[in-house]
Amino acid sequence: MIQKNYSLKKLNTFGIDATARYFTECSSIDQIKETLSLQSFTNTQKLILGGGSNLLFTKNFDGLVIKNNLKGIELVKEEKDFYFVKAGAGEIWHQFVMHCIDNNYAGLENLSLIPGNVGASPMQNIGAYGAEIKDHFFELEALHIADKTIHTFNNADCKFGYRESVFKRDLKNQYIITSVTFKLLKHPNFNTRYGAIEKEMEAQGVKEINIQAISKAVCSIRSSKLPNPAEIGNAGSFFKNPEVTSELYNSLKNKFPTIVGYDLENGNVKLAAGWLIEQCGWKGKTIGDAGVHKLQALVLVNYGKATGLEIFDLSQKVMDSVKETFGVDLEREVNII
Ligand code: FAD
Ligand code: EPU
Repeated sequence: MIQKNYSLKKLNTFGIDATARYFTECSSIDQIKETLSLQSFTNTQKLILGGGSNLLFTKNFDGLVIKNNLKGIELVKEEKDFYFVKAGAGEIWHQFVMHCIDNNYAGLENLSLIPGNVGASPMQNIGAYGAEIKDHFFELEALHIADKTIHTFNNADCKFGYRESVFKRDLKNQYIITSVTFKLLKHPNFNTRYGAIEKEMEAQGVKEINIQAISKAVCSIRSSKLPNPAEIGNAGSFFKNPEVTSELYNSLKNKFPTIVGYDLENGNVKLAAGWLIEQCGWKGKTIGDAGVHKLQALVLVNYGKATGLEIFDLSQKVMDSVKETFGVDLEREVNII
């Protein structure tokens, strides 16, 4: 069923009061194909919606929103050391991670509690606490919007990078991801590179490390600093952490000795954008109902009635002052609609 002038307020974690000119939910690939075949929508722009946790609506969407509700989790193959687990795009990411943890399929535990759906996880190669999905991604299936055929993309095809994939670049708006298959470990390889995880496990009195304990620690760290969208509207980190040359990093370090940066394999340095924004005095600031979160300056928030444009304007002001103070360009991570 296609609905008209449909409110998206409850379908985006920023809680922006925007509408879709047309809206439909699809729970099967056939339903998606039928929708795409409707003559009246051939030339209408389309937006595929998952959990709405990485979007900012700056205006009403003058097209067709297709909410992807494809469900199902299946162990499709087992090898000596691996489980291959396939999940429908509409499965909730954290529930899928919990399913894997309950079954001792290891690899996704560091990515616990990331909002959103499985289908969006490859879009920006979601990552947290020293892990990214590309580390355990096997393949995905996606429906080509123009010719309505299913294509399979393996890890290399997806061109994953830091908060990047081919679906955000060359193939933007061309495919609807229908399922994702992960290659998970029978023998876990605990990833506690991110220091806070060990500290948190220690505080929780964990004696023996396992994927359950890592997941619990990650959930607890996340809850302590990231605002819960059910309480305060937000879409996680609004900006990416910028990559700069080591020369620029060293000159910034001379001027700002406490600057936070991480060495990358390519010789560049990734700067903590949260630090840059905090130093510019933005942490905890509000303009109307749009704000910079008080515990995490990388997260922009909607305290109630902010419009998407107000959040966007605030993001521009933040970018301008980081550029002016440090000469560094911030790039938005959130998809602006
Ligand atoms: P949506 O917001 O619905 O969509 C995002 C983009 O993907 C849109 O362009 C949409 O059109 C497209 N899309 C969605 N589904 C499909 C599909 N099936 N086929 C094709 N295109 C599709 N992200 C991280 O990487 N790490 C974090 O630690 C993290 N923490 C967060 C914390 C909070 C509190 C919040 C609110 C967000 C956080 N995020 C984080 C961002 C967000 O959770 C992820 O980007 C998530 O993958 C978005 O999923 P979604 O289903 O909500 O996508
Ligand atoms: N920092 C500050 N002030 C702040 C926030 C951060 O100084 O207000 C500094 C601190 O020094 C801190 C450092 O920045 O040590 C890094 O902060 P944090 O560990 O909170 O991580 P982040 O770089 O702000 C990134 C991801 C998050 C992910 C966490 C944990 C990006 C854009 N963001 O945030 O992902 O959960 O690391 O791995 O890479 C998201 O993408 O939406 C997201 C939340």
